[in-house]
Amino acid sequence: MWCRATIGLAPRVLKRGSMKVLVTGGAGFIGSHIVERLVREGHQVVAYDNLASGKRENLAHVGEIKGAGELELVVADVRDAPQLDYYASGCDVIFHEAAVVSVPYSVEHPQETHDVNIQGTLNVLHSAKRRSVKRVVFACSAAVYGEDPEMPKRETMRAAPMSPYGIEKITGEYYMSVWTQLYGVETVSLRYFNVFGERQDPASPYSGVISIFVDRVLKGSGVTIFGDGLQYRDFVYVGNVVDANIRAATTPGIGGRAYNVGCGQKTTLLDLLSTIERIAGSKVERTMAPPRAGDIRESIADIGRISDELGYRPTVGVEEGLRRLIEYVKGSR
Ligand code: UD1
Repeated sequence: MWCRATIGLAPRVLKRGSMKVLVTGGAGFIGSHIVERLVREGHQVVAYDNLASGKRENLAHVGEIKGAGELELVVADVRDAPQLDYYASGCDVIFHEAAVVSVPYSVEHPQETHDVNIQGTLNVLHSAKRRSVKRVVFACSAAVYGEDPEMPKRETMRAAPMSPYGIEKITGEYYMSVWTQLYGVETVSLRYFNVFGERQDPASPYSGVISIFVDRVLKGSGVTIFGDGLQYRDFVYVGNVVDANIRAATTPGIGGRAYNVGCGQKTTLLDLLSTIERIAGSKVERTMAPPRAGDIRESIADIGRISDELGYRPTVGVEEGLRRLIEYVKGSR
């Protein structure tokens, strides 16, 4: 896969194991999976993370990978432009995963999420230009689509964010494409749908719903369902998202493009909970609560563009991803 994926970059980064890569948010949930993959492939990786939600433990196992590349963890913030600029120097690619990722948190703390999610992204782009980084892959979100009832969501649809988080993500994406047009920095935005998998932290009320439901079902404690539970999402296992990132970093001729990253499969919250209960072999009590402010009700991706242009396939489906996650959580208790 790596060989196929690397064909697009300039000759000096064609060789396996020759890239220098910066992953912002590299100790976080998705970032740590990208870091792991890159290190396995023998690359030189800097994981840049302020550890606000990322954790050193997320990268602990990476050092033990045999015959791997190098990893350095830098504890710093994307709002710290000089630091970021220093570590961007000499990089071939930046994966920009650092963000405050919660919709309700952004509703409650819009100034803080603006600073991290917009100013932080601008800092990344500024350094990418200054340091002649070849490509920036940006973690965008399905939250940019908002409440337009047309489904599935296609990249050509008008953005209509419903939360500060959605505004911040579409702003970041606009910055990405403009940096390609104005300054020739090759950027690619990936509109993640609902990503789940190992190392997603269930500890906070702002955590992703799958991490919370799996945690509660395995503990035998109750869950809260905001709304009627019939809202649906396109849940996508993190391994597929890593694959999309590698393809986005290495496919030629896609500067300035944006792609949905999902499975193209809809799952309601009630179905999700039943599936988790079935796989885990236990049931939990449900408390119904009003819908959360800023939540979109329905979301499902059309993955035609990313399939056609990047050769992406969601090879691990939702149920298989849930099985892997549940095994992992059981094993780490
Ligand atoms: C999630 C991601 C966001 C990403 C977006 C893309 C997180 C924390 N958020 O937002 O970064 O950009 O997908 O679509 O990973 N819910 C409950 N009970 C709970 C928790 C949540 O009913 O205990 C409900 C929510 O009200 C919502 C749904 O589950 O309707 C999904 O919530 P959540 O996992 O927070 O994801 P999104 O808000 O879709």
